[in-house]
Amino acid sequence: MRRRALIVGNWKMNGLIEPACDLADGILFGLGQRADRMLHCEVVICPPATALHALHQRLGSGTLKLGGQNLSEHESGPHTGELCGIMLRNVGCWYVIVGHSERRASGEGNEVVGRKMAAAFRDGLTPIVCVGESLDERERGAAEAVVREQIAALLPHVPDARNKRESLVVAYEPVWAIGTGRNAEPEQIVAMHGFLRALLTEALGAAGEKVRILYGGSLKPANARTILALGDVDGGLIGGAALKATDFLAIIDAVPDEF
Ligand code: 13P
Repeated sequence: MRRRALIVGNWKMNGLIEPACDLADGILFGLGQRADRMLHCEVVICPPATALHALHQRLGSGTLKLGGQNLSEHESGPHTGELCGIMLRNVGCWYVIVGHSERRASGEGNEVVGRKMAAAFRDGLTPIVCVGESLDERERGAAEAVVREQIAALLPHVPDARNKRESLVVAYEPVWAIGTGRNAEPEQIVAMHGFLRALLTEALGAAGEKVRILYGGSLKPANARTILALGDVDGGLIGGAALKATDFLAIIDAVPDEF
């Protein structure tokens, strides 16, 4: 099954407006030199919300797409400090990360993540839903059980419309690999992505075959070629290495040609 590769940069809480624009300019320039690659690879950056408007002005609706890092499950109203999907759309976002482990760590549970994914679909955004186990869970042999529960909480919220189902993106980000420099081993990635694919096709039928499953966790130029070539790895969700245009572009260059 061929799926269009998806490379997503999660800038987390890094980047004032000017340096964010400089970084985006660097990436955009690099993409311009890789026009053939863009035919089989989609590239998204998720900068801090404060930089989205300026970046939207700069990027328009070109090859480098924008995503939010989080959204509220609500449509509007008295939710101080929150942003809803429509607001993200308003500043040019196509995608939104949902349930990143750094948000789950501050109390966002599976149920909330499911409702946020539903809100993303409702508001016309493509959700990139993060799943993944902690080191303790892996060491206890509970990695699959944890991920199974995370996926199970999403399923009731996946829309019936086939095009929406197929657009879902799941990112496997083992918590112990995030920001540690230690990526998951290829065998661990293959096993978990295969497990995720089986869960998704069992629940969503043929649409589950189309869902893109990204790997995230210390993905960098040095390991990207190996990881992005693995079975059922349809791209990457990148933190640290997304903050330097040359590194991010090197990861894009590592996407296998057969995508
Ligand atoms: P690192 O690439 O810095 O490990 O971060 C991964 C991540 O959390 C992306 O969402």
